[in-house]
Amino acid sequence: MPEPSAMFIKGPFEPIAVERAEGAWLYTRDGRRILDAAAGAVVVNIGQGREELAHVAAATTAKANYVLPVWTHPERERLVARLARWTPPGLNRFFFTSGGSEAVEMAIKFALMYHKVHGRPSKNKIVSRWLSYHGNTLAALSVGGNRARRADYEHVLFDWPHIDPPFCYRCAWHKTYPGCGIDCAQALEETILRHGPDSIAAFIAEPMMGATGGAVPPVNEYWPTIAEICRRYNVLLICDEVMTGFGRTGKRFAVEHWNLKPDLIVAAKGLTSGYVPMGMVAVDEALVEQCEQRGADFMFFTYTAQPLACAIADKVLEILERERLVERAAEVGARLGIQLKEELSGDPLVGDIRGCGMFWGVELVRDKASRAPYPPDRRLTNRVVAAALQHNLFVYPSIGMAGPGVGGDAVMIAPPLIVDAAEIDYIVNNLRNALNDVLKSL
Ligand SMILES: Cc1ncc(COP(=O)(O)O)c(C=O)c1O
Repeated sequence: MPEPSAMFIKGPFEPIAVERAEGAWLYTRDGRRILDAAAGAVVVNIGQGREELAHVAAATTAKANYVLPVWTHPERERLVARLARWTPPGLNRFFFTSGGSEAVEMAIKFALMYHKVHGRPSKNKIVSRWLSYHGNTLAALSVGGNRARRADYEHVLFDWPHIDPPFCYRCAWHKTYPGCGIDCAQALEETILRHGPDSIAAFIAEPMMGATGGAVPPVNEYWPTIAEICRRYNVLLICDEVMTGFGRTGKRFAVEHWNLKPDLIVAAKGLTSGYVPMGMVAVDEALVEQCEQRGADFMFFTYTAQPLACAIADKVLEILERERLVERAAEVGARLGIQLKEELSGDPLVGDIRGCGMFWGVELVRDKASRAPYPPDRRLTNRVVAAALQHNLFVYPSIGMAGPGVGGDAVMIAPPLIVDAAEIDYIVNNLRNALNDVLKSL
């Protein structure tokens, strides 16, 4: 087996060789047991190591391992029927991919194609937000708002507009909610008018800021205002639920927190809980029908709706339903949030704790009053993640939310939705210990 140092992608922390995993726990080659409070990359909603899924994988693979994506098979039909009960009413046409980035690409292409077949080819820009991540391929990176990840590719990315996100702790307008006028939502209308409504195809955003902002829910007025602006200017609304979907925030999809019905939802991660790679786009059927009537053709990927992936996704959703894990994420997640706030708010490094369900961010600062972060070269987030690992806890890093050149540090707590009270105690206690260790070392 190659040493971790021989691998192409290196992380900023000690390389860990995971031999096996069960529930929320990782078992390493050197005999450690680490609680994964990030569910991988916020993926493993149902927890690791479920034998039921191994049986599904074996049975499906033995039956038919590949079917041309323009044909169908029972696993796909079962999944589509189940998904239609999960997504908001009307969003019941599904396109499957191998992951989140491909699904974002498909959603963007759908929006461009939708306007083109309606005779509006000039509507060819996608508005998105800073402090966002939508994936690693070039169109997904173009709408992405993580400046560090964009940096090496800026010269080839699509020149599409970005607006500042709804982020009260670091409001780009230096206002305080309530009474702020929700400038973060009004910014969409200003941008549409500045570029011309005839040039904007869609707005894409994460319903709650994900790994770039550190799990930040918006204020309640944000999404209804955004949806109204999109409708007024015939701009498609794409919600990227790759991180927030399938129970993570205590609802099936985060859009349910505001009764929001976007035109498209993009999802991945929790869809299969990481048991196999898969992503999807759910599209309003009326929009798809309009495109079909105008002769539009949707090219597939080789692995679109592969039988194994469909069977696993269907079983994962069945488990989420059977074990009521979405409801559990809301209930147990609320307890996680309370404990994080009770035990960590007083910590000298902790500036803000926000989130909901099993999706929490702890932002770290140098000065609580001014909210000033540590300089980026202190690499605070990496130190905290490394210190947590010393306590056999993994939390997810989130860097740069204070602005370009200023830095910003947070860790995300997003464990599998199955964690129990003892595991929540473990997470909070060991994160506190890690913060203490880091504070002493600064
Ligand atoms: C919100 C969001 N969109 C898209 C992606 C890209 O998904 P993938 O890494 O599966 O391509 C991610 C990945 O973290 C994500 O968090």
